[in-house]
Amino acid sequence: MTDYNPEPQIAVLDAGGQYCHLIARKVRELGVYAEVRPSETPAGELRSAKGVIISGGPSSVYEAGSPTVDPAIFHAGTPVLGICYGLQLMAHLMGGAVRPGEKGEYGLAILDRTVAAPLFDGLPPGRQQVWMSHRDTVIGLPPGFQVIGATVTCPVAAMADIARRLYGVQFHPEVVHTSHGRRILENFVLAICGCRKDWNPKVRIPLVTRRIREVAGERNVFFFVSGGVDSSVAFLLCQRALGPGRVRGIYVDTGLMREGETDFVRRTFDQLAPGAVRIENAAARFLAALQGVRDPERKRVAIGEEFVRVQQEIIESGHFLEGDWILGQGTIYPDTIESGGTQNAAVIKTHHNRVAGIQQLIQAGRIVEPLSSFYKDEVREIGEELGLAPALLHRHPFPGPALAIRCLCSETAAPVRRLEDGWLLPLRSVGVQGDSRSYAPVLALDAPPEPALFEHATGLINRLAGVNRVVALAGSHAPLASLEVSESSLTPQRLARLRRADAVVRRLSEEHGFDRQIWQFPVILIPLGAAGRPDSVVLRPVDSVDGMTARAVPMEAALLQEMTRQLLALDGVAAILYDLTHKPPGTIEWE
Ligand code: XMP
Repeated sequence: MTDYNPEPQIAVLDAGGQYCHLIARKVRELGVYAEVRPSETPAGELRSAKGVIISGGPSSVYEAGSPTVDPAIFHAGTPVLGICYGLQLMAHLMGGAVRPGEKGEYGLAILDRTVAAPLFDGLPPGRQQVWMSHRDTVIGLPPGFQVIGATVTCPVAAMADIARRLYGVQFHPEVVHTSHGRRILENFVLAICGCRKDWNPKVRIPLVTRRIREVAGERNVFFFVSGGVDSSVAFLLCQRALGPGRVRGIYVDTGLMREGETDFVRRTFDQLAPGAVRIENAAARFLAALQGVRDPERKRVAIGEEFVRVQQEIIESGHFLEGDWILGQGTIYPDTIESGGTQNAAVIKTHHNRVAGIQQLIQAGRIVEPLSSFYKDEVREIGEELGLAPALLHRHPFPGPALAIRCLCSETAAPVRRLEDGWLLPLRSVGVQGDSRSYAPVLALDAPPEPALFEHATGLINRLAGVNRVVALAGSHAPLASLEVSESSLTPQRLARLRRADAVVRRLSEEHGFDRQIWQFPVILIPLGAAGRPDSVVLRPVDSVDGMTARAVPMEAALLQEMTRQLLALDGVAAILYDLTHKPPGTIEWE
């Protein structure tokens, strides 16, 4: 539902990487509205854009089925910037040559500018630090192009046909490690494409308000609020657009929430919209729907479908809303993409806002998602303009399926297994590798989570096929070697155990100010234990900008020690593990 907004001036063609979002976000930060489009979008459909950026991606231009673009975009007179894979595609499609690489180049590099080009205007003189992440390399220029930048290992680090306004860079200007990346994007977007600054906080609320009124017409809007930033901001936007009487909500207490959450939601909405939100206790039926369900995707589907059933029953019972209604949701832009919203983004997992029942409502035009073209940081800015309390706006994100995807289940029982590098835990967690979903075992290192270990973890995953996550041991009642995974499911007892562990972690990290240094702090319960203590707790503090990529963050030793001590004192907890895995290759949640 991209028509909440003006026509994008910059179209970012998604060549299969999650990085395309970072590019679009950086362009929006320059004040220019950008949207992500499937890479194969016909040139005719991009005519209204002032510029096109082709994103990076994991493929090789020579692989069968790898993403491509309509070659006509290079002849339409619109400026094009290819980034990484986008550069290679541009070279390949226009008659240049790309050499498939085996090892590739990852990390910082030094760029020498070989000739002056508008793309590099205003950069300080001399060499530039850039960030590279590629296997293949352009070795032959297409006709009309020249090299405008090179590094020691990459002869075509930047190329251009300046007259036709076609540019390609092998490095990533969208990441912070490229020192002057922002200026390079600005040169492309503002100077080369001639975009206007049309995207600022002031234009967003009126646009969204108008659109909500159009979609809703005479109908009322009903929300399932969660207490999170997205659904609260979406709710308030609708309330502002339609008036308080026409927007109602229910908070469904699924019994899967964190400690104190229901009270927090009650207090918040009592203040924001007195009388508009009711609390429905549905814990028993969610637990029943999840009984015996152990597979992560099936858990998600079970929860999503139960949500839809609860919703339908509430509406059908007729006592809550009279007249015609539509459903409001706080879906944000990346949510629509991770569930396969664009052609090249593989389905990493089914987002709970996109399960079958909801799809039917979307098809019937009975849904309003006012935030579906915004990134998280933009949602926070909108919330700020609406006057929402910082305590709500700066809450860590929390997944819709809640603790259910942080309480791992196992179909089988098995002991840990010794490998050369550590212990293989016979349970699987979800990951994202090469831009698609993985579901693989975890490697546990019999060492504390020292900061130096984090980079070691990445190397291990690259080396060991079949493992997508590495954890370290913060403390335990029994040696790692003696622990076993037991057959287990989502029981009230295990959920209560996880809830207590989560509350301990939350309290301590708030007390130490650690929560403000990170983006999110999932606490996961895994069925790994020893006699009388069937479970272990995994700590997963991560830093991120939008959840699309994330960095595992080390914790100060004193805090970790205290946290471990308190967690090991909980009933049924055998060991405390610390997740060292960045995203990719691990996802933030374990599922
Ligand atoms: P992953 O596990 O994919 O998570 O690395 C990325 C971010 O998304 C959150 N998340 C969700 N949020 N509904 C949500 O509202 C969901 O179904 C969902 N699944 C994951 C996750 O907590 C992290 O911040």
